[in-house]
Amino acid sequence: MSSTLFSPIRLGGVELENRIVVAPMCQYSSADGCATDWHIAHLGMLANSGAGLVIVEATHVERHGRITHGCMGLYSDESEAALKRVVDFCRRAGTAKLGVQLAHAGRKASSQRPWEGGGALKPGEDPWDTIAPSGLPFGPGWHTPRAMAADDFDRVRGVFVAAAQRAVRIGFDAIELHMAHGYLAHSFMSPVSNRRTDQYGGSLENRMRFPREVAEAVRQAVPRTVALGARITGSDWIDGALTPADAVFCAKTLKAAGFDYVDVSSGGISSDARNPATPGYNVPIAEQVRATGIATRTVGLIVTAPQAEDIVAGGKADMVALARAVLDDPHWGWHAARALGAEVRRPNQYLRSGPALWPGAAPLR
Ligand SMILES: Cc1cc2nc3c(=O)[nH]c(=O)nc-3n(C[C@H](O)[C@H](O)[C@H](O)COP(=O)(O)O)c2cc1C
Repeated sequence: MSSTLFSPIRLGGVELENRIVVAPMCQYSSADGCATDWHIAHLGMLANSGAGLVIVEATHVERHGRITHGCMGLYSDESEAALKRVVDFCRRAGTAKLGVQLAHAGRKASSQRPWEGGGALKPGEDPWDTIAPSGLPFGPGWHTPRAMAADDFDRVRGVFVAAAQRAVRIGFDAIELHMAHGYLAHSFMSPVSNRRTDQYGGSLENRMRFPREVAEAVRQAVPRTVALGARITGSDWIDGALTPADAVFCAKTLKAAGFDYVDVSSGGISSDARNPATPGYNVPIAEQVRATGIATRTVGLIVTAPQAEDIVAGGKADMVALARAVLDDPHWGWHAARALGAEVRRPNQYLRSGPALWPGAAPLR
């Protein structure tokens, strides 16, 4: 049996050993944007999950662009050095290629960590001013953001480029822009959060203008040897808001800007919108996006090896990303390889784990 999930794929100048990707996952464990020992343990573990690519959590391009006080950043020499330490460690210890998600939280910034309530920071909790396309809060009780002015556009474009340059210096194999989950780029694209009447609002093309400008500026700054992608919104799950057809438009725009791949996610634009809770709920949207010809990944309740194999072997997506299932089983890729009769690289120290435990394998030495 030959597995498509465990076949290699090329994204721009980067070849991945297989099509399993660990999705970006905020750890809320940074110190003023700087990765800590927690990230050594967490990402070091995931670098040996059997995935071809691990994407580091939403890493914010300016201090006020962070979601919480604990979020990671790439906006200072200190945060660059801290992340380089983690990446260098993962290279020494792990098998996966490494990517980073660059983000700006927009109107969802200045929030509490999930385990502290997950709402807007309260007056005693050192909150900060937030920015967005329009002065509309994410939901009741959330900060009212300031509508972005001309100098904000210039600054945010600039800090995305600067963070991408830092990511290239660190040596990441892939860089992906966060254009989903209600954060700044998505909030421009969605009519729920963008009520501007200038060239950045109104038609879908206008709402896509600022994310496109950022994407084009970052493409200029990132060499072709690094895979460049974006996580995009497949649906707002709100009537009259972003649809799969809009995701197709977004993917075409990014392909034209020279992007190597997109990841189809969805939801998060408003506090009262809910994602479906069905297995692989973004897969049918990814299938439509993939028809544009850009390499397409998808995410969302992909949990079992046969399910992941079916998605890629069936041509519904080129790659799958997993978040919660890999936290639950950090060797998910090893176990998927076993289930699908495929091979996966393991570190020398762990060579005696899986294969020796398989039925019919050589006894432990
Ligand atoms: C702990 C945790 C942190 C997350 N942080 C991020 C993040 O930094 N960036 C992002 O785009 N999505 C983030 N997500 C969403 C996941 O990447 C993924 O899209 C979502 O959990 C659905 O996939 P799953 O069903 O495999 O968990 C996070 C999810 C979890 C569980």
